[in-house]
Amino acid sequence: LVAHFQPKVLMGHRVLVTAGPTFEAIDPVRGITNHSSGKMGFAIARAAHEAGAEVTLVCGPVHLPTPWGVRRVQVESALQMQAAVQAEVDRASVFVAAAAVADWRPAQASAQKIKKDGSGLPPTLSFVENPDILAGVAASDRARRGELFCVGFAAESHDLETHAQAKRLRKGVPLLVGNIGPTTFGQDHNALLLVDEHGCRAVPHGPKLALARQLVAEIARRVAAPPV
Ligand code: CTP
Ligand code: CA
Repeated sequence: LVAHFQPKVLMGHRVLVTAGPTFEAIDPVRGITNHSSGKMGFAIARAAHEAGAEVTLVCGPVHLPTPWGVRRVQVESALQMQAAVQAEVDRASVFVAAAAVADWRPAQASAQKIKKDGSGLPPTLSFVENPDILAGVAASDRARRGELFCVGFAAESHDLETHAQAKRLRKGVPLLVGNIGPTTFGQDHNALLLVDEHGCRAVPHGPKLALARQLVAEIARRVAAPPV
């Protein structure tokens, strides 16, 4: 078994990963969401478990099996994801935010299906911004004291390096990971850009599990010794 041969670089660590999209209900039959297969976050959860960590995976709606040995917490909306993260994060020493969280949710979800009213005019929806789960965790006392190592992802359509550098500082995380390549949604392969305080480094194109293992190795080099 592959897991047996992975170096146990995260032994003693508790890793919390978010993955997949969130789904924000408009009414009982509709909602808004983001493109995200969840594959990268699931691969990271698997790789962290292989590396000896105790792993919890908080995920939005995805069609993926739970990686072996990983505890899965299933959520739907950004608010649910935030609540699940808050319930788990105090026990974690590493937080990896790989989820594609919807930035906005309908201001109020209708309890009943919104019907066409015959006028030919669409309904007007108003939105409110969702909480920034990663920024909230990164601003916590434990993260600031270095007891919780936070890793963010950046979904950008252009100028990845510039945006990723700015996003790393804005989120207050030591490590930010950019997806290189225009159409990585749902693919099994990707390439990554790792951004830290020293600058950018590309992790060349490969299967998501291979990239996840390299990311886990990068995290392990940066985290303090496991909490006793
Ligand atoms: N993130 C989060 N909560 C949100 C939005 C984003 O935790 N409400 C996390 C994502 O999981 C990712 C990182 O923040 O790790 C960056 O997400 P991204 O969508 O690229 O950045 P935003 O800050 O939302 O900025 P924008 O979408 O405007 O580029
Ligand atoms: Ca966003």
